[in-house]
Amino acid sequence: KNLAVFVSGGGSNFRSIHEATLNGTYQDCKFYGIIVLFLICWLLFYNPMVTYDADCGGAEYARGKGIPVIVFPKRKDTEEVFSAEDLVIVLRSFKVDFILLAGYLKLIPAALIQAYPKAILNIHPSLLPAFGGKGYYGMKVHKAVIASGARYSGPTIHYVDEQYDTGRILAQRVVPVLAKDTAEELAARVLHEEHKLYVEVSAALCEEQITWREDGVPLIQSKE
Ligand code: GRF
Repeated sequence: KNLAVFVSGGGSNFRSIHEATLNGTYQDCKFYGIIVLFLICWLLFYNPMVTYDADCGGAEYARGKGIPVIVFPKRKDTEEVFSAEDLVIVLRSFKVDFILLAGYLKLIPAALIQAYPKAILNIHPSLLPAFGGKGYYGMKVHKAVIASGARYSGPTIHYVDEQYDTGRILAQRVVPVLAKDTAEELAARVLHEEHKLYVEVSAALCEEQITWREDGVPLIQSKE
């Protein structure tokens, strides 16, 4: 199985997944980093080709490791970040089976979802369906969790559909929200669990350990 990761930011999840590929966590699974740079770098430099050689953590890490990096810069003629049809052709040429979104902030176009049914996952830093949807990203999520008084938070991994954070939930991990937490402290605690959870879940995906309950809920089968 071939795995592609979409990143547009710091890329710490991307890095932990890549490191797991090096220590044999993924059996029979190849790995490609598809870095889709659009938002952060675009805003910083107004020139996607310059941004590619500049500051996005995920892209820098990938280049340093010799991972194929494909850049789909933001297009000027349309709101779409890229042409979904073009991207599907590229993914197919790499024989990609599964896609992991790891800090990728834009909606995935319908054409890509249709080309990869039940094969695109996202990680979100709250216990969905709480604190999800458009507008809940980055530190905003953790600030909202703290402001709500919730005692628990944690990452959710879900299948990707055509809206933000609404696809079927595949896995979650609970972390405590401490009384004196800042958003940054909570984010760090959640991110630590994200790194472990995404590796476990994406390995299960590659090893075809996912089954689907009759009502459409995905389940991870244990290996035993
Ligand atoms: C993570 O918190 C993830 O849940 C969210 O974006 C963040 C990406 O972090 N979707 P990184 O780029 O992997 O460090």
